[in-house]
Amino acid sequence: MNFNFSARIDNLCKKIDAENLDAVIVYKAANVYYFSGFRGDSSILLIGKNFRKFITDGRYTEQAKLQTKNFEIVEQRDGLFKKLAEEIKISGAKNIGFEGRVVTFDEYTSLKEKLSGVELKSVEIDSLRQIKDAAEISCIRRACEIADKAFAEVLNFIKPNVTEIEVAAELENLMRRYGSEKPAFDTIVASGIRGSLPHGTATDKKISAGEFVTMDFGAMFNGYCSDMTRTICVGKASDRQREIYAAVLDAQLHGLKIIKSGESCKAIDSAVREKLYRAGLDKYFTHSLGHSLGLEIHEEPRLSRLCDKNLAANMIVTDEPGVYIEKFGGLRVEDTVLVKNGAAETLTNSPKNLIEI
Ligand code: GLY
Ligand code: MN
Repeated sequence: MNFNFSARIDNLCKKIDAENLDAVIVYKAANVYYFSGFRGDSSILLIGKNFRKFITDGRYTEQAKLQTKNFEIVEQRDGLFKKLAEEIKISGAKNIGFEGRVVTFDEYTSLKEKLSGVELKSVEIDSLRQIKDAAEISCIRRACEIADKAFAEVLNFIKPNVTEIEVAAELENLMRRYGSEKPAFDTIVASGIRGSLPHGTATDKKISAGEFVTMDFGAMFNGYCSDMTRTICVGKASDRQREIYAAVLDAQLHGLKIIKSGESCKAIDSAVREKLYRAGLDKYFTHSLGHSLGLEIHEEPRLSRLCDKNLAANMIVTDEPGVYIEKFGGLRVEDTVLVKNGAAETLTNSPKNLIEI
């Protein structure tokens, strides 16, 4: 995949200017990959306007040479932050940004001790990844297609007495076979009363006839995630299950209608919540409507009452209302959605009518 690393680094350099910095330390693995193309861990980028250093250890030196361009590769043998401090001194940078949400207190303290006369300032760089370019959108689109194919097939596998873990394994195996690098997050399979756990990762519980099974899963392609939830019923759904399913689906479809560039994240969340309020179910919708995703499964902005941002074209978000009722169960319906100036495009396209198998 041809990602435009120089455009990404140009944007980072604009941030360096705007924050009156000489350089930025990039440490979060997703950001190291985003700015350099390197897919490993335990590595740091030190980026200034006139230098790009890639600090890693012997496990990754060759890989870094293969996967990155225009970086000076520096191999450390006595500690990542020790080498980082040495490279900062060599660079002459005095005002340095670092990811305050990522670097631990101990790492920060050790760096500070080694760098007298250098100012370290926490900066936020994840937001540079919010708007996806064409190459990123095509990776996420592909991850969504892989998840769709896996869902279509896993339906043949689900029956009474199969465990949640077996369903999760089948889904993950199918996604791998169709090209996923790994699951985008821990696969959720929550059946029967476990459906009241929004994040009920799969257990050895056996699925029984008459139960809802909620599956929330994602594929990864070139590091980019997909995210989809479908809830199906094993056997005939009861009237109550049918009624709740219809209300959640109605809310989810309303979300798809109103997700649009320029709309407020907060307003989208509350409009969908309002739908569930009218169905008497809003008190069971206990999380926000959605989140952005890309190299990480949860990115900003969120579709949440706590988010003051507006959506912009080429953000990718989820629309995932759910209802969770203790001792009864629950369900969620979720799609990955590409934000546009007009109607949003749903990238996960598995059926959403209530499937009874
Ligand atoms: N699909 C997992 C989550 O959004 O938390
Ligand atoms: Mn999600």
